[in-house]
Amino acid sequence: MIYFDTAASYPLLPEVKVELASAFNTHYANSASTHNLGEIAANELERVRELLADSIGAYPSEIVFTSGATESNNIAFKSLLLSESFDVSKKHIITSQIEHKCVFAICDYFKSLGFEITYIKPNSDGLIDVADVKNALRPNTALVSIMHVNNELGTINPIAEIGQVCFENNILFHSDAAQSYRKVEIDVDDLNVDVMSFSAHKIGGPKGIGAIYIRDLRHKHLLPVIHGAGQEDGLRGGTVAVPLICAFGKAIEAFPDYYDSFKNIDIKGYFLDCLEKEEVPYVVNGGGKSLPSCLSITLYKTNTGLLIREYENLFSLAQGSACSSKTIEPSHVLTALGMNRETADRTFRISFPLDIDKFHVDELLKAIKKATV
Ligand SMILES: Cc1ncc(COP(=O)(O)O)c(C=O)c1O
Repeated sequence: MIYFDTAASYPLLPEVKVELASAFNTHYANSASTHNLGEIAANELERVRELLADSIGAYPSEIVFTSGATESNNIAFKSLLLSESFDVSKKHIITSQIEHKCVFAICDYFKSLGFEITYIKPNSDGLIDVADVKNALRPNTALVSIMHVNNELGTINPIAEIGQVCFENNILFHSDAAQSYRKVEIDVDDLNVDVMSFSAHKIGGPKGIGAIYIRDLRHKHLLPVIHGAGQEDGLRGGTVAVPLICAFGKAIEAFPDYYDSFKNIDIKGYFLDCLEKEEVPYVVNGGGKSLPSCLSITLYKTNTGLLIREYENLFSLAQGSACSSKTIEPSHVLTALGMNRETADRTFRISFPLDIDKFHVDELLKAIKKATV
C-alpha cells in the first residue's frame, strides 16, 4: 500500500515508536503524585511543555496539553468566550469557509447560544484575504479564528497580517495550526496570535494528544472544558497522558529534519512535471503558497471512480478531505472555491509521506494515465 494521506495522519516516526514504548514502561506514575516516580513523570511533562513552548516562542505556562486539535479548537472558543470574565456584549465570531469541520460544529453551537458567525470566503488562490477579515469586523466581534494551513489545499494563510488587524482592533485571534506546526515556522509573537491549536499525529506523533497555546493563560479565568482535579491549570481535568506527551515531544524534535529531507526531493514538482509530460489534463486547486507535502488536484479527463476502485488496495488517496470522505457530499473547501459536485468528484488530495520515493509516484502516475481518456 502506498500511503498518500499524511494530511489526515502521519504514521509514527521510528523514534516516536521507541519513545512511546519506553515512556509507557518508565513514566507510568501519575504526574500529580508526590512520590519520586510521580515527580519524574511531572518533570517529563514539564520538559515537553517547555520544548513545545520554545518551538513557537511562547512561555511553558501558556501551553495546555489536550487530546488533539479538535479539543484545542473547542477550548479556544468555549473556554475563552464563555468564561465569566469575557464581555457578554461581544457576540460575533469571524471564521472562514475553509476551516476544519470541527470549527463549523463549534460555531453552530455558538449560534445556538445567540452568537452571529461570519464565514469568510477564500479567494481564488484558496487563501483568506486580510481585507475581507478587516471588512467583517464589528464593534461586538469577540473572536477571529482562521486556520494557518488548510488541510485540503495545503495553502498557507497570511496569519501574521490577519493577527495584526485583530491586535489593532483588540480582538482575540485564534489559529488552528494542526497542519502547519513543524512544517512552517511559527512564532506566536511574529504571527500575532493569541490562541493556537496543535495536534501530534500530524507530525508523526501519536493520535490522542495535542496542545493549545493561550497567551497569558495564567492571568485569565477560563471556563474548563473538562472539570476535574485541577490538572492543566484547571482547564482540562483528568490524569495527564505523560507517555503520549513524551512521544509528542519526540515528534516535535524529530519531525523537522525528516521534513527538510522530504522538501529537498520536491516530489510535488516531480509529480506535476510528469503529468505535463504524460499530457494528463489537471488543475491545482489553491494557487497560493502551499505546503510541499499537500496537493489538491482536479483531473478533468480521468475516470476517478475507476482510479479509486481499481487501485484501492494499492493507494491510500483522499477524494475530498479524509474526515468527510465517507460522506458523499463534495468537500466544503472545494465548494467554497466555487467547484460543483462533478468537478469535486474529480479532485484528489495527495499528501505525500516523508519517505516518498519517485518510484511510488511513478506507480500513481501509471494508474492515473491508465484511467485518463
Ligand atoms: C486543520 C485541522 N484541524 C483540526 C484537525 C483535527 O485534529 P485532531 O485529529 O488532532 O483532533 C485536523 C485533522 O484532521 C486538521 O487538519
